Amino acid sequence: MGLFITFEGIEGCGKTTQVGLAAEFLDSEGISHLVTEEPGATPLGAHIRKLLLNRNSFSLNPEAELFLFLADRAQHVRDVVLPALAEGKTVLCDRFSDASIAYQGFGRGLEVDTVRMLDRVAAGTLRPDRTFLFDLPVETSIERAMRRIGSGQSVSPEDRFEREEIAFHRRVRKGYLDLARKEPDRFVIVDGTGEIAAVQGRVRTELIGLLRKNRK
Ligand code: TYD
Repeated sequence: MGLFITFEGIEGCGKTTQVGLAAEFLDSEGISHLVTEEPGATPLGAHIRKLLLNRNSFSLNPEAELFLFLADRAQHVRDVVLPALAEGKTVLCDRFSDASIAYQGFGRGLEVDTVRMLDRVAAGTLRPDRTFLFDLPVETSIERAMRRIGSGQSVSPEDRFEREEIAFHRRVRKGYLDLARKEPDRFVIVDGTGEIAAVQGRVRTELIGLLRKNRK
């Protein structure tokens, strides 16, 4: 079985960039791998992702939202992740079960134990071998998001983002940190405010150790 490694964090934490760089590193080491993501990595997932992106055109309550993410995961695990692991590939996955607990549980206020239980239907017995949590303050995340959409630097983040939204992302961040503290052996908390190369250095050190252990 290959290693299953997940990448988590709030929006703008840089995880997608880091997944790409980690894949380049595995390439350079000749380690066969698969990069994948949630939501949206299967044909069903692509439909679900489109629905989630269009959420402003219809009503979507937190419970229904949870089931959409879980449906995406159920298909993704069985069609993509497990077959790749069975082939001995290292799987790098941009978001997984922890995202549902952090976003739908801590963020939207659904009961965390219930989210966890329902996630077991979706993920089955699959758990990440290692999870990188790219942590950064919500303010930095918002600044990055605003830069990405090209808005003027003169507008303060607090003016552009609903207070409610800021509070939501704070809860998600706290949720992730809570999860990481409870499972220190699985989680690696990486300071996401650092330079891209420095953050990648930390990821690579961890990957090298992990791959060495897996070879034994
Ligand atoms: P993602 O594609 O990772 O977006 P970004 O790269 O901008 O962070 O995730 C899309 C959104 O879906 C993001 O807001 C987090 C959310 N999400 C959940 O709320 N629950 C989940 O279980 C997953 C997998 C994602």
